[in-house]
Amino acid sequence: MSHAIAFDVYGTLIDTQAVSARLAELIGEKAPAISRAWRQKQLEYSFRRGLMHDYCDFAVCTRQALIFACREAAVDIDEAAVELAMQAYADLDAFPDVRPGLEALRQDGLKLYAFSNGSREAVERLLRRAGILDYFDGVVSVEDVRSFKPDPQVYAHLLRVCDLPASKVYLVSGNPFDILGAAHAGLRTAWLRRDPKAVFDPWEIEPDVTVANFGSIVETISCS
Ligand code: 2OP
Repeated sequence: MSHAIAFDVYGTLIDTQAVSARLAELIGEKAPAISRAWRQKQLEYSFRRGLMHDYCDFAVCTRQALIFACREAAVDIDEAAVELAMQAYADLDAFPDVRPGLEALRQDGLKLYAFSNGSREAVERLLRRAGILDYFDGVVSVEDVRSFKPDPQVYAHLLRVCDLPASKVYLVSGNPFDILGAAHAGLRTAWLRRDPKAVFDPWEIEPDVTVANFGSIVETISCS
């Protein structure tokens, strides 16, 4: 029986903080702080909607979170600037270590999936533009089950697509909430801790492995 590796997209394959530079052109010096608040609120909105069973396209969470983060920082942002920021979010690049890492993993004959809160259309467009879509055997979007990570339903959906038991599927993510959700659902987990200052949540669950860069995934994930 083969194995599969599923990769979170925003913050794991794709560098979301890179949007800060574009945001700075639109709203000025508060962009770095607003960019961080934007990401946190985007995720919070997805958690709320998952719990409320009030699913919407993740891009709606992203847009509403940007508007909130600007209002909270008392920064005016008009509709045109929101659109430009959303376009920047749709045009983000992959981290530099991703493509060579995927190339190495593909040599190992592993089945690779992109797994995201983003809609299938948005993720396919993003990964195509980043030049990495063809490395994946499939894109798995939470839209298929109309909920968000870390709802157990989305990991169960991933396993159905992989057609493998949880013990044969690794989730690689830079987001601890995603690692916790996947581990809770029985998957094997690899936390991609690119920032050495990043802190994992002090829960009763730990990632199976922690790696500092994408290239280490090949050596570290023993698909035994
Ligand atoms: C994802 O791509 C939001 O990073 C999370 O699903």
